Amino acid sequence: MAGEGLAVEVAGLKLRSPTMNASGVLGMSAPLLKRVYDSGAGAVVTKSLGPAARSGHINPTVIEVEGGILNAMGLPNPGIEGYLEELRELKGEGVPVVASFFATTVPEFQSDAKALARAGADALELNLSCPNVGGEPGMCAADALSVERVTRSVKQVVQIPVFVKLSPNVTDIAGIAVAAEKGGADAITAVNTLKAMAIDADFRRPVLSNVTGGLSGSAIKSVALRCVWEIAEVVKVPIIGCGGVSNWRDAIEYMLAGASAVEIGTAVMNHGFEVYGKVNDGVTRYLSDNGLGSVSEVVGLAHKR
Ligand code: SIN
Repeated sequence: MAGEGLAVEVAGLKLRSPTMNASGVLGMSAPLLKRVYDSGAGAVVTKSLGPAARSGHINPTVIEVEGGILNAMGLPNPGIEGYLEELRELKGEGVPVVASFFATTVPEFQSDAKALARAGADALELNLSCPNVGGEPGMCAADALSVERVTRSVKQVVQIPVFVKLSPNVTDIAGIAVAAEKGGADAITAVNTLKAMAIDADFRRPVLSNVTGGLSGSAIKSVALRCVWEIAEVVKVPIIGCGGVSNWRDAIEYMLAGASAVEIGTAVMNHGFEVYGKVNDGVTRYLSDNGLGSVSEVVGLAHKR
């Protein structure tokens, strides 16, 4: 399955390959995430879990647009307690799990982080960056001090690695990444979706019930790649690239920009679960064609002038 040199270590987490699914796009049942793992991903990422069950926005919440998908689901999820059994099932199958979660207060962030770690999550991905729930205090990815404070509060209560997922909808993502690193982030996931919208010309109305949504897919790759580049210039912790990866070349570009691994989401809709294995195979070929022994030798190469 995983080719020579494909194994990576992200913040102490040993992965057999540098690919994961991006939180959210595929739902989160254990059998579904197991398929992601069986298709070659090095770890799986849950949809973002919150302190309580939540139904999200009313339909329409997901539409296809040129170059990608626009979603405004509003963080629907069964609540952390309601998901723990599913998480244990995945762990029982030997799947490395990154639990994505959000909350609105520091005590909630801390108790949720502890519950997920106790249930066996291998790492946490702190979602501070959903663009579809304006005004909720936990979605603080635009505010460096809040990012630092929330990250530190979570780091205080768990031993497992904490990834912080940042938003591209900010003027200075590098500054926010530095704040996350100061708060103790073990890795940065860059990036969440780009705030966008669609309007129906016939109905003369916004298409999504939430009016705006988050754009994912190849349409945002260049933006996300630039974010990874800027972050890599200023932080030492590993970066996980996310945004429009649909083939091995995209993955390699992210690695050259500074990512140690990539998350793939929207591409699954066009290419199926096989996308993880295909990206892995392409990365393996690239390593061998270029006389490179491991993914880590590629990470950040484009910065070396
Ligand atoms: C959503 O549920 O609205 C999307 C989740 C996210 O972008 O973090």
